[in-house]
Amino acid sequence: MKIPTKRIYDWLDERLPISATREFATHKTVPIHKQSIFYFLGGMTLFFFLVQVCTGIMLMLYYRPSAEGAFESVQFIMTTVPFGWLIRSIHSWSANLMIYFAFLHLVTVFFMKAYRPPREITWITGCMLLVLGMGFGFSGYLLPWNKLAFFATKVGTDIPGTLPVVGDFIMRFLRGGDRVTGGTLSRFYGWHVAILPAITTVVLGLHLLLVQVKGMSVPPSLEEESAKRRPMKFFPQFALRDLFGWIVALGVLASIAALFPWELGQKADPFAPAYKNIRPEWYFVFMFQMLKKVPGGSIGGVEYESLAIMAFGLCGLVLMLVPFLDRGVVKRGRSTAFTVIGILVLCFMVAMTAWGYASLVPVWVVIGTILALVVIGALTRPSGEEVQ
Ligand code: HEM
Repeated sequence: MKIPTKRIYDWLDERLPISATREFATHKTVPIHKQSIFYFLGGMTLFFFLVQVCTGIMLMLYYRPSAEGAFESVQFIMTTVPFGWLIRSIHSWSANLMIYFAFLHLVTVFFMKAYRPPREITWITGCMLLVLGMGFGFSGYLLPWNKLAFFATKVGTDIPGTLPVVGDFIMRFLRGGDRVTGGTLSRFYGWHVAILPAITTVVLGLHLLLVQVKGMSVPPSLEEESAKRRPMKFFPQFALRDLFGWIVALGVLASIAALFPWELGQKADPFAPAYKNIRPEWYFVFMFQMLKKVPGGSIGGVEYESLAIMAFGLCGLVLMLVPFLDRGVVKRGRSTAFTVIGILVLCFMVAMTAWGYASLVPVWVVIGTILALVVIGALTRPSGEEVQ
């Protein structure tokens, strides 16, 4: 029997905006210049997010969110469920890569000044996505209910507890009580699989919609170069390159996850003495290290540590408001001050992380990333026809 594809298409087209979407997609283009490689980083972050969704759903089928059953259910996933160890390892590695790429994406769009009008909301939703990503990491860390996660969560939730007035409320809200217990685990599970995914879906949807509507921006310093080149069509040229990157990423991710399976450690024991060298996930280490170095004492009844935590909050707010603070880029098309501040903040964060680990590995990771981007960018740079 011949399937009436044309009739089905027409029927759907009358009810859904298929033609309009096709029309939009055929006209969508991506600017070509020497930093075009950076346009792939948002898509790469999206890829790792999708991996998280797929592997997370699979893990959910076996995971039990209780102090009595969580550790054992993860053990069961790793030892008995077919390929369970691999799925868990991919979920854990991909979580870290997603946050790494989100950071990288933030840093590149920052230096490309992509937050300029009319992309302020794209930037703000991006900042929200980073915070949400870190929230996923923080809540997911506790779920295996192992020793390291238990004590890291205890320390992590202790920190906001030192804030004046609201501290106690925030700590109890996070823990679901005074201490980290099975109740905290259920609460973190709720955040991890329901609340955060729901909020992320909305914010990510808006972020991606705005990227489609506003198109990709060209950094002010490359406007001349870009104007000389014919932009690349998004479909199929750019999308195929995106897809190629995703396939390579999947191969790399699966290899890392198989060669270095994510460890489970020992079951948490709330009565055991606190762990030595408790450290949060790498993306919190710069803040953790700074807090460790804050001297004891208080001013006007407010502890120095609380002041440092409030300063972090303020820095987060300033980051979110960058599009409204950087007026130079709007008026003159460039803003050296923000570029310099960005470089200094970045160096400071990397230095703090290296100090926290007492190792130069974070510095090498950053240098390696810059080199990789330069090499891949040079090797894959589309020549882009010159506009006559
Ligand atoms: C889960 C996290 C995120 C996902 C999945 C995501 C996804 C994307 C995608 C697919 C694009 C288009 C391609 C590109 O320019 O790279 C994009 C663009 C953009 N993103 Fe994100 N993003 C995320 C986080 C962020 C963060 C943390 C920021 C910064 C605060 C940000 C700010 C922007 C901006 C300003 C653009 C427009 C770039 C331009 O026009 O040149 N995004 N994002």
